[in-house]
Amino acid sequence: MKQLKTFVFVAISFTTISNAYDAEEAKEMYQTDCTKCHDSSVFTRAPKERKVNDIEALKKQVHRCVGATGASWFEEDEENVVQYLDKTFYKFTKEIKKK
Ligand code: HEC
Repeated sequence: MKQLKTFVFVAISFTTISNAYDAEEAKEMYQTDCTKCHDSSVFTRAPKERKVNDIEALKKQVHRCVGATGASWFEEDEENVVQYLDKTFYKFTKEIKKK
């Protein structure tokens, strides 16, 4: 039983770590690849005017936009920037751990 508890604890800790995002890296990638077509003002429009109103829509939109940039981002980069945009502008999710 003790072993099982240890295992569960380690598994949970690992999940928490991999949920962390790297704000600096996200910001840099965003500024390099994402500011050609629109600036950050599209993220702060009134909810009725903007395209994205939940975290799932944000993920999809970031995926589409990454495709539009022509930059080759890894899935982790996309996720990282989703977290960055959510934390900085949208605030759909509250508990995001910073590295
Ligand atoms: C090729 C042009 C282009 C590039 C480059 C681009 N986007 Fe976009 N993006 C758009 C367009 C067009 C829209 C829709 C704007 C509108 O509705 O006025 C949009 C909208 C968005 C939205 C939704 C805004 C809202 O309404 O809530 C997000 C989020 C977004 N982009 C993220 C990104 C990210 C992250 C990158 C970098 C990977 C990026 N974009 C690069 C064209 C681009």
